[in-house]
Amino acid sequence: MEVDHAIRARRTHKQYGPEPVGEAVVRELVELARQAPNHKLTSPWRFRLLGPETRAQLDGVVGEKEAAKLRRAPTLVLVTAVPSEDPVLAEEDRLATAAAVYALLLAATGRGLASYWRTPASFREPPVREALALDPREVVIALVHLGPPASEPPQKERAPVDEIFSVLP
Ligand SMILES: Cc1cc2nc3c(=O)[nH]c(=O)nc-3n(C[C@H](O)[C@H](O)[C@H](O)COP(=O)(O)O)c2cc1C
Repeated sequence: MEVDHAIRARRTHKQYGPEPVGEAVVRELVELARQAPNHKLTSPWRFRLLGPETRAQLDGVVGEKEAAKLRRAPTLVLVTAVPSEDPVLAEEDRLATAAAVYALLLAATGRGLASYWRTPASFREPPVREALALDPREVVIALVHLGPPASEPPQKERAPVDEIFSVLP
């Protein structure tokens, strides 16, 4: 799939078919995601494919409402950043990880997969962080939902280009 088309075709999907995305495909997505721009090549990103035991553990700590939301996607990939000590580089590390998430979403779209960038509030809380064994320095950037599409979400309106683009003399 052409890049322009993947950019236009990507949507936030909330309904998925039941078949999980195989580990090999998730590895391909991660391999592509790590090509994102990254000042000083700090490799700040960490990707975790959540297995059944981890997901069962999460079910127990996120609360019933959130657990039901998590069950919608057959595959969950947690993306975190381990920001550098230097505050400027730390900000760049978080931005680079966000760029990596977007690359992952586009690569998933290119493979005909549905995806969803989520940042559930509970993933900032200690019980969830403990269940995932996150290092205290790690910042959750995205809980990426992946799976076969089960609906065709409409494109959401964006601010027009004339509102967001200008040419400086
Ligand atoms: C940093 C970030 C965090 C997001 N977190 C959430 C979230 O927690 N819940 C949610 O429903 N959507 C979340 N989204 C997805 C946006 O809501 C979605 O991209 C937006 O509504 C536009 O829809 P589209 O992706 O179909 O174009 C997040 C997106 C970004 C970039």
